[in-house]
Amino acid sequence: MSNSDDHAREVAYPPLERLPQHVGMIMDGNGRWARQRGLPRLAGHRAGVENLRRVLRASVEFGVPIVTLYAFSSENWRRPAEEVRGLLNILRDALGKEVGELHKNGVQLRHIGDLTPLSDDLKEQIQAAVELTRNNDRLIANIAFNYGGRQEIVEAVRRIVEAGIPAEAITEALIDAHLYTAGLPDVDLVIRTSGEMRMSNFLLWQGAYAEYYSTPVYWPDFDKDELYKALQTFSQRDRRYGGLNT
Ligand code: IPE
Ligand code: IPE
Ligand code: MG
Repeated sequence: MSNSDDHAREVAYPPLERLPQHVGMIMDGNGRWARQRGLPRLAGHRAGVENLRRVLRASVEFGVPIVTLYAFSSENWRRPAEEVRGLLNILRDALGKEVGELHKNGVQLRHIGDLTPLSDDLKEQIQAAVELTRNNDRLIANIAFNYGGRQEIVEAVRRIVEAGIPAEAITEALIDAHLYTAGLPDVDLVIRTSGEMRMSNFLLWQGAYAEYYSTPVYWPDFDKDELYKALQTFSQRDRRYGGLNT
């Protein structure tokens, strides 16, 4: 890239003082995006999945090392069967289409959540994508798919009990090491699109001291400029962790 391109980029996106190491994204508003255009909800999900490519690229460009993307919650099974089926198909198609390009771009794909209720072919496809990209190091992209924060903690407790770990050995670090996100730092910034201001069971443990950012923009319209705005807001937040910053 030439110097003038670098210059143009710095003007559009001045360097940020502080970057989050781990950004969670609650990709909400696909349905409303579609309704606004008179389209079926699944068209919104398709547009939402396509937007992922753009957001992942922007995350790499801004230097965010880890993102966790909330794609399907453990509660989303409550939606009409047709929407659930459609969503699963869209995610499967997108994974098939995009994994090669993501791999080329150095993205390490991971999955957090429970794969057991998924069909064998989808399970295998996810596992193959994780395996293919496991040594990539430009960006870790955790896909939260059939994920629920409470369910994750229940799973962790079960595994701790199964391992016969005694009560006095239970620490925060031990619980952390039994979560789906073991080995990753806590989430620093949680972005939610579509104007909602709730956690909807996302990264409950890891988000204990996350900064929250809500934007009215629907997920399919959440672009590089919008990500920059969120990162800029984050860089201005005063994180106190219960103490005082003097
Ligand atoms: C987010 O969009 C995607 C998923 C939850 C799978 P929604 O489908 O929740 O869109 P709205 O909230 O109905 O607009
Ligand atoms: C949260 O969105 C889950 C995902 C974005 C995958 P929802 O649309 O399911 O959340 P609620 O139902 O509005 O809380
Ligand atoms: Mg929603």
